[in-house]
Amino acid sequence: MKEFDPVAYKKMVKSYQDRDDPMGWFDSIYTDAEGDHTAVFWADLEPSPYLLAWLESCVSKHLGRKAIVIGCGVGDDAEALSEAGYEVTAFDISSEAIRLCKNRYPSTTVDYLVADLFDYPSQWAERFDLIYECNTIQVLPGKYRIQARDAMVSLLALQGYLLVSCRSRLSGEQESDVPLPLDKKEINGFVGCGLSEESFEAYDDTQEPPVPHFFASYKSLG
Ligand SMILES: C[S@@+](CC[C@H](N)C(=O)[O-])C[C@H]1O[C@@H](n2cnc3c(N)ncnc32)[C@H](O)[C@@H]1O
Repeated sequence: MKEFDPVAYKKMVKSYQDRDDPMGWFDSIYTDAEGDHTAVFWADLEPSPYLLAWLESCVSKHLGRKAIVIGCGVGDDAEALSEAGYEVTAFDISSEAIRLCKNRYPSTTVDYLVADLFDYPSQWAERFDLIYECNTIQVLPGKYRIQARDAMVSLLALQGYLLVSCRSRLSGEQESDVPLPLDKKEINGFVGCGLSEESFEAYDDTQEPPVPHFFASYKSLG
């Protein structure tokens, strides 16, 4: 199994971004894990505690509703949504990520599939009561971040919720390199898409040194 080398990683990502192939490298992160989901360096291997807290805060509203997880990685958040009662679709552009999910959860009720956020099946449009995005925008560059946000919003049904969990930064801080955290202006772009901000938290995680994050929920007006 390949040892994770942060310098080589950033160089590799930059080489893809420089040739305008910003999604070309994701599968390599999962294939490098050689079938072991615990070896995916960015996987927390547990659902986000902020997602769990959000789910608990409105527990009666989930049963039978449709949720979709963007860039689901190795599946922890998708499984948490399923346990909360959602009918869950979880997709990733990496076929190896989806293979890891299916091997990890052989009896799952989550529909794991390979798909591209920028070219998703047309029947998904405006279909989901809950969209969950964790850490995908921050690994995309430039215009793809805006396109990703707009594609996420386009999946949302009337009165649906969109949750965004991501690294954060102050405006003007660290403007290149991967991951590029979102600043407040960028995350406010979801409000600019016609959603209302229902909750917003800025927090530091438990790493040493702590890494700043945002967790926000938005609601479709309609
Ligand atoms: C930083 S990882 C986060 C994975 C997971 N959400 C987590 O929090 O552990 C970003 C994920 O987004 C996926 N991804 C990137 N671009 C995508 C796209 N256009 N469509 C679907 N998935 C994409 C990557 O393959 C990767 O699994």
